[in-house]
Amino acid sequence: MGSRLLPSSAFLRAVLFALSAALCILPGLVLAKHAGITRHYKFNIKLQNVTRLCQTKSTVTVNGQFPGPRIIAREGDRLLIKVVNHVQYNVTLHWHGVRQLRSGWADGPAYITQCPIQTGQTYVYNFTITGQRGTLFWHAHISWLRATLHGPIVILPKRHASYPFPQPFKEVPIVFGEWWKADTETIINQAMQTGSAPNVSDAYTINGLPGPLYNCSAKDTFKLKVKPGKTYLLRLINAALNDELFFSIANHTLTVVEADAVYVKPFQTKTVLITPGQTTNVLLRTKSKLPNATFIMAARPYVSGPAAFDNTTTTGLLEYEKSSVSTAKTKNKKLPLLKPVLPQLNDTSFAIKYIRKIRSLASEKFPANVPKTVDRRFFFTVGLGLIPCPQNQTCQGPNNAKLTAAINNVSFVQPSIALLQAHFFNQSKGVFTTDFPSNPLVKFNYTGTPPSNLFVKTGTKVVVLPFNTSVELVLQDTSIIAAESHPLHLHGFNFFVVGLGFGNFDPNKDPSKFNLVDPAERNTISVPSGGWVAIRFLADNPGVWFMHCHLEVHTSWGLKMAWVVMDGKGPKQKLPPPPSDLPKC
Ligand code: C2O
Repeated sequence: MGSRLLPSSAFLRAVLFALSAALCILPGLVLAKHAGITRHYKFNIKLQNVTRLCQTKSTVTVNGQFPGPRIIAREGDRLLIKVVNHVQYNVTLHWHGVRQLRSGWADGPAYITQCPIQTGQTYVYNFTITGQRGTLFWHAHISWLRATLHGPIVILPKRHASYPFPQPFKEVPIVFGEWWKADTETIINQAMQTGSAPNVSDAYTINGLPGPLYNCSAKDTFKLKVKPGKTYLLRLINAALNDELFFSIANHTLTVVEADAVYVKPFQTKTVLITPGQTTNVLLRTKSKLPNATFIMAARPYVSGPAAFDNTTTTGLLEYEKSSVSTAKTKNKKLPLLKPVLPQLNDTSFAIKYIRKIRSLASEKFPANVPKTVDRRFFFTVGLGLIPCPQNQTCQGPNNAKLTAAINNVSFVQPSIALLQAHFFNQSKGVFTTDFPSNPLVKFNYTGTPPSNLFVKTGTKVVVLPFNTSVELVLQDTSIIAAESHPLHLHGFNFFVVGLGFGNFDPNKDPSKFNLVDPAERNTISVPSGGWVAIRFLADNPGVWFMHCHLEVHTSWGLKMAWVVMDGKGPKQKLPPPPSDLPKC
């Protein structure tokens, strides 16, 4: 922590006197003013040999760890994370779900809010966590490096503030990941060249470990050791690249209490559904008596479309610790292993029911501040498409073209300098245009027979919003190439999920059914396969904010765009200038 000059003792006495007087008169005010602390982290990006599935791979890590280190903070704390890049790749890190109020320079998506940190260079991410508590995660935000560059962000409530649920005996992060035996940068670079879909992963992992259902992985199994009769808080994070996951623990029921660092109305479930980019806190109440069994926890994909996928299952173990008395009796006894029952891989009806169960707590202390009026309405189609094969090349996508993805038929082209810099210094010319379509330019039956022309346009287009615009956005899946669910993630804001359904959104009928009372407040939501979702957010954070599908393959293909939110009039409504160490392109 930083050093400080010590004041003289006389001065100190005077301050203490003044402080105690203030404490007597205005305790509430003093408490309210109690600011957080500053926490320092150092993240060295470096290569580390990691062995999984009988194969050793030189892996990009933070400080040699996979998954990466955990960041812990309290609501109100400031984080200073010094990132030093020791690898051959360009790197940026993103603090997924952190609102970054007026700290857009620390958000992290490459070429959106910053140029990458080049080999040998350093950047200090500097931001304060305001009005958020729960689980989020950090990950690399460039190419596919987040496959191994990711880790938990645990935000504890302010000191002396408690959870709106029973205080857990222990808290355990559970990070789901996806592992490729081959180098993931090579995989995505080749796929982008040929226009075909990249290879699917070889394994899923729980806290970096695949578990015994994979070759040579019995020793690489996550074990959660628990005591009977206790409540554990599991902080679930889906850091997989391309797969939504079902998760369940044999013979145990989970109580969902928080999603994307927002408390929810608690509900019980045997299975959790979690998309890439989402986080979910669940309470696990252990059996009151020591059971004569070990319980398997398992995660495997929810598959909403016809694309190739990794159909394997990662497992870990929930083991009850014997007390010293029972040890003698049950010593060496091999306990039976119980398996969880997961939904079918394509169980969309389970998926929708589960998504609908997530509701804001909407209490006095934790209100759901849903925008009740709307200034601007947007309708975005999201889905796949094609771009032509370059001349003198053969491509391996459908019709000898290249696979791509788009929003409102625009496949986003990554600029060569960061949009936020171009915006802040009024140098957008040649970098981006402000004509991102608010509605599809060509209307069709989005979820019916696709149009004959599957080609999309390309461009670096944004939507500009005045400060404090209240936005309603309908995201509509298309059946172009294939309908599929798309976990859309918005940077810089939480949004409220006011409605969702199957088929085409009906602007005459559907809005009357919107939930404006206790909708889920999140940063990532799946657009249902062959359906739509409606969200609302208040654009009260000046900056440039990325929005994209959190299936990394779709982001690579261009299913992304950005919102430019202008400064407001007040001094606290403006984006400050960039830090002096902001990387250059
Ligand atoms: Cu977790 Cu833009 O991403």
